[in-house]
Amino acid sequence: EKKIRIGIIGFGTVGCGTAKILLENRENILKKTGLDLELVKVADLDITTPREIELPAGMLTDNTNEIIEDDSIDLGIELIGGTTAAKTIIEKLLKKGKGVVTANKALLAKHGIELFRLARENETFISYEASCAGGIPIVLALRSGLAANNIEGIYGILNGTCNFILTSMAVENKDFPVALKEAQEKGYAEADPTLDINGGDSGHKIAILASIAFGYEISFDDVRVSGIENISIQDINYGLEMGYVLKLLAVAQRDAGDGISLRVMPAFISKTDQLAGVSGPFNAVSVFGDAVGQTMYYGRGAGMMPTASAIIADVIEAGLGNAKRSFEAMKLRSREEFLEHRADP
Ligand code: HSE
Repeated sequence: EKKIRIGIIGFGTVGCGTAKILLENRENILKKTGLDLELVKVADLDITTPREIELPAGMLTDNTNEIIEDDSIDLGIELIGGTTAAKTIIEKLLKKGKGVVTANKALLAKHGIELFRLARENETFISYEASCAGGIPIVLALRSGLAANNIEGIYGILNGTCNFILTSMAVENKDFPVALKEAQEKGYAEADPTLDINGGDSGHKIAILASIAFGYEISFDDVRVSGIENISIQDINYGLEMGYVLKLLAVAQRDAGDGISLRVMPAFISKTDQLAGVSGPFNAVSVFGDAVGQTMYYGRGAGMMPTASAIIADVIEAGLGNAKRSFEAMKLRSREEFLEHRADP
């Protein structure tokens, strides 16, 4: 039995879900993995708004230093999102030699290269299963399950909010703003939903997945992105009449030469394609490997408990020692090298 002491920074939707699993499933996880996951502190600027879960007395603080400076805490889970305060907090955790688990795709897609370096310098790691496709263990699949393959392409529906909106428009004839509001109420959307609907969030995720799949330092700037903000019900219905479903697709593809193209765009796909059947807040990722052929992963891509499920997967990998080992083993070729291979989509 091994004890892991954990601090959560950010007590919003995903923070609540993560705390809930840690508090309610501790015994089960211990039986299954031999790891005793002890939640020590939860930090958030807002310590007064009632949440879905009540923490034991004294666990909630508005001072992140109570986690950063506590040498008995092994692992910091960053769930505040955004690219400013979250970056500083992760840097501080890494400099203290703590492992970091994060769902912050925007931060990793923009500053991952720098943060990964800092983690290496401090002989620790960053894990980010929850940053892509919510509860689907796609990072683990790319990193280990499919490691035998040269990856040829990744095709995904990676934004639950957009998929929810497009499904509501197509199936229930709902207007865009109404569907967006519902997605926000259900906790799928980002704090700033612009990032969902303009394709930015899918762009962050495909940059992260492509860097694992192709082994380069890839940044969000390398992805060509367009979103669904100008899509109308008429566009969707026109496609349906012709046998096509409109989806926001994120694609990372190796071409016949050695070029790699990365893009996010609304696309009409045939009703018979498996991705066409993915509706509501669900995500799906299709990965092609040279040995395995096509594989497909499906599940809830957003929301409190699915995302928390992926966070806990990272915590367990950390506890088992796999997170540090696989982080150390991941040798990404430089972005300069990637740019020599970047193909214009
Ligand atoms: N806003 C994101 C989505 C949350 O809708 O997919 C999960 O990353």
